[in-house]
Amino acid sequence: MDAIKNVVTDMNSKMKFKEAEIIQLPKHFDRRGNLSVIEGLTHIPFKIERTYWIYDVPGGEIRGGHAYKQNQEFIVALSGSFDVCLDNGIVQKTYPLNRSYYGLYVPKGVWRQMGNFSTNALALVMASIRFDPQDYIYDYEVFTRLAKESRI
Ligand code: TYD
Repeated sequence: MDAIKNVVTDMNSKMKFKEAEIIQLPKHFDRRGNLSVIEGLTHIPFKIERTYWIYDVPGGEIRGGHAYKQNQEFIVALSGSFDVCLDNGIVQKTYPLNRSYYGLYVPKGVWRQMGNFSTNALALVMASIRFDPQDYIYDYEVFTRLAKESRI
């Protein structure tokens, strides 16, 4: 949790995440209940190859702590709240997610952690490739070296 809390949110840095962004989703308000939708390549910039979700996270736990070489993701807080911390090897930025009608697009080659999960948090993650353990970079030193050399 300290890792999440200590992340510096540097909004003024000239080193911006070029592609990571909060994307608003369509909202169909209805007295019977609201509806939002995600279509790959329409609302998010990739074709959805895989969907997974993270739930029942015990208080204080951190998920992620890795980067992907190719995989892109779109993360939505379907229920509850959590923070996604992104790090491009130079700048770190924290995105609090707490609504089901927007999400965070995470490009490839970005170190990401998820933490500060509320009790009822449900994180829906759409991914651009099928699960591939070879696509993961777990070593932060390796990640920062690749990022600084623009090799990821
Ligand atoms: P992992 O990606 O390490 O989770 P997190 O980044 O949230 O900490 O995945 C945890 C476990 O789930 C790991 O054993 C791999 C497995 N897994 C799959 O089998 N398929 C998937 O699509 C994902 C995302 C994970």
